[in-house]
Amino acid sequence: MWTKIDYFFEKNKGFYLFLLLLLPVSQYGRTNKLEKDIMKTISFNKVWLTGNEKNYITQALSEGKTCGNGNFTHKCQSFFEEKLGSCKCLLTTSCTDALEMCAMLAGIQPGDEVIVPSYTFVSTALAFVRQGARIVFADSRMDNPCIDEQKLEALVTPRTRAIVPVHYAGIACDMDVILAVAERHLLVIEDAAQAIDSFYKGRPLGSIGHLAAFSFHETKNIQCGEGGLLAINDPRFVKRSEILWEKGTNRAEFFRGEINKYGWVDTGSSFLPPEYVAAFLWAQLEALDSIQQKRKEIWNMYYQNLQGISSLSLPVLPDYATNNAHAFYAVCATPEERTALIRYLKSHGVYSVFHYLSLHKSDFVKNQKWEVEELPQADKYTDCLVRFPLFYALEPDEVKYICEQIKSFYTSER
Ligand SMILES: Cc1ncc(COP(=O)(O)O)c(C=O)c1O
Repeated sequence: MWTKIDYFFEKNKGFYLFLLLLLPVSQYGRTNKLEKDIMKTISFNKVWLTGNEKNYITQALSEGKTCGNGNFTHKCQSFFEEKLGSCKCLLTTSCTDALEMCAMLAGIQPGDEVIVPSYTFVSTALAFVRQGARIVFADSRMDNPCIDEQKLEALVTPRTRAIVPVHYAGIACDMDVILAVAERHLLVIEDAAQAIDSFYKGRPLGSIGHLAAFSFHETKNIQCGEGGLLAINDPRFVKRSEILWEKGTNRAEFFRGEINKYGWVDTGSSFLPPEYVAAFLWAQLEALDSIQQKRKEIWNMYYQNLQGISSLSLPVLPDYATNNAHAFYAVCATPEERTALIRYLKSHGVYSVFHYLSLHKSDFVKNQKWEVEELPQADKYTDCLVRFPLFYALEPDEVKYICEQIKSFYTSER
């Protein structure tokens, strides 16, 4: 028997069904609105200025000197010479340039071999290729993307000239083992692009190899847009480094009053940045401690909040390494999982990114027809590593939100 109420519901069934369908949509809209209210889009990186950049640039301009090698350049170089204990540091226009200087100083000739990790930025290899080197690619460690020091010995041949460890995300490579492999005749050139203010067994990264290169690109802890630094830790290279830096001339000696005219004495290029770039960089260097403290707080928040997600491997720092909070990365279980995670975060306003593509599989290397080995760890990081936003102005609420979204990705049905 139908009651009046039954009849009423039956008659308006379509309308009630429609309302029912709307409910989750309105809830979704509500949550999304809440998220939007709390969170704007969170970019992967945001440049932070200390406030002193403009002052120092104005000061540099008022000194009437805009080319390089002036007061601010000297201040920045002395800062690193003191911090690293290097014989000499030279500011460059990029880390790529500093690496190119390393390749020249190492006297790399066509046919020489240089050992480079496959999981790195192009410049680590390119700087040596420009001098005619053949790159021998090394795999990464199982527990972090740094070069696998245990596999290096097998890659050394009579043609090997140098090993170039990259301190990925500021995590030190195992330098004692690398130096032991290089001991007899190889140079060790640290790619310390990401490694400012990080240490290996208490020694600053960039001070351990014969030479080292840093980056001040806008994505780095300390930045000036584009910039770099060459650290010379072996006195044999000091004199020539100044000449390469100054377009193959002995102008640096002339400026110091050591000679009465300067001229063309060697190869080189124009590697030095203008004074106003050095002035910008000086403002950042002065704030190094506070920048580092803030970045480390953010890094630690990620690390604590993301514990316990079984398929997401968090960074592993060996006992000998410190954390300079250059990047917060994690390694997903599969490439598909990483793609889905990045997409999920983007749909919730968070920009996360993958990183390097294994160089041994690049088109450039294929065209060289070099023999390359399988490098499974490098490929794993290429396919599965994801980096989350980390920059000075990232607020604790935002880090919390990002971690919540990562967790909700892993608990949601995919
Ligand atoms: C490991 C590594 N080496 C070298 C470079 C090149 O640095 P730059 O952009 O200062 O030339 C980068 C860039 O991010 C890098 O990650």
